[in-house]
Amino acid sequence: MNKGFDIDISGMNTFRMKVSCRCLVEYESVEELKAILSDVNLPRPLFHIGGGSNLLFTKDFPGTVLHCAMKGMKDLGSGRVYAEAGVVWDDFCAWCASKGLWGAENLSYIPGEVGASAVQNIGAYGREAGDLIESVSCIDAVTGREVIIPAVECEYAYRDSRFKHDWKGRYFVTGVTFRLSTEPDPELDYGHVREAVKEKYGTDDPALLTPSMIRDTVTDIRKGKLPEVSELGSAGSFFRNPYVDGATLDKIRRIANEENLGNVPSFGIREDCFKVPAAWLIDRCGWKGRQIGGAAVYDKQPLVLVNKSGSATPDEVITLEKEIKASVLDKFGVTLEKEVEYV
Ligand code: EPU
Repeated sequence: MNKGFDIDISGMNTFRMKVSCRCLVEYESVEELKAILSDVNLPRPLFHIGGGSNLLFTKDFPGTVLHCAMKGMKDLGSGRVYAEAGVVWDDFCAWCASKGLWGAENLSYIPGEVGASAVQNIGAYGREAGDLIESVSCIDAVTGREVIIPAVECEYAYRDSRFKHDWKGRYFVTGVTFRLSTEPDPELDYGHVREAVKEKYGTDDPALLTPSMIRDTVTDIRKGKLPEVSELGSAGSFFRNPYVDGATLDKIRRIANEENLGNVPSFGIREDCFKVPAAWLIDRCGWKGRQIGGAAVYDKQPLVLVNKSGSATPDEVITLEKEIKASVLDKFGVTLEKEVEYV
């Protein structure tokens, strides 16, 4: 176990906010995690971090930041894989693809770690982590016991799970069991994935494709659109894509028509419920590339806020968030919700 006090954690959050925590503990076994949870001398609150890729530290953290250093992966046979919480998500995707297992390839190149994937239900290109999860292994902070929670109890939804609500602070994820497919199961129908696969490999025939081919295509797409967190601090999509009703979608279309903003992209979710890309709404409010202090709206994908100067402060990011929300609400009557967690 590694433990330190008053630690600079600017390298542990992909937004690269210059903040510190009162205490940082990195554990290497479930037994160590149990000992940490029962150690009354550790400063509270406790906050478990993964890759730090979906959060914004708004100030120095007064308690203890925990990080899992367990990085084992096990092939359980028949497409089942167990990965410990500290495995880098993209290493998991690469490992599955190299074994010819289908399911995680569309989720390639998402920053973060396996433990957080089960909390956040990360998703991309028509696949979500929750679709692949069989169960989540955790320590129950209340009883100190190990528990295995079936996916069906986790209530996975768009970028959401019970770990973000009533289970917050109660369960600490130690590992995840995934159920992947040993049979070809490509998902090519989201956005430009099919076109990109065809262009790269000359075919979209599932019998001729491998998970690695799709993984490489998705990685290329992401690299072209999203900033490399090692070069430009960000936390990926800052806002969720909003769901609106039919009347609101009609209103957005009317405004788009009056102001020549082009077609409004929308995806039917259920009756009278449509997803409208937040990137489109933010873009049409003229935010692309705009900057407040050191924080800016990424010029290739306005859903992403970046630490442009390298020394942006949390307050600058928060001001940018508020101004974007206010202008999207004012222009289109849509309330954006942030996806990034404020700590
Ligand atoms: N758009 C614009 N202007 C732009 C860019 C995009 O108007 O400059 C519009 C276009 O209409 C485009 C639409 O926004 O078709 C959607 O953009 P895109 O498909 O690039 O991404 P998204 O739907 O906004 C979501 C996820 C991403 C994920 C991609 C692919 C959320 C909040 N974000 O973005 O997830 O990679 O789909 O599946 O759901 C993340 O969570 O950090 C993340 C990057």
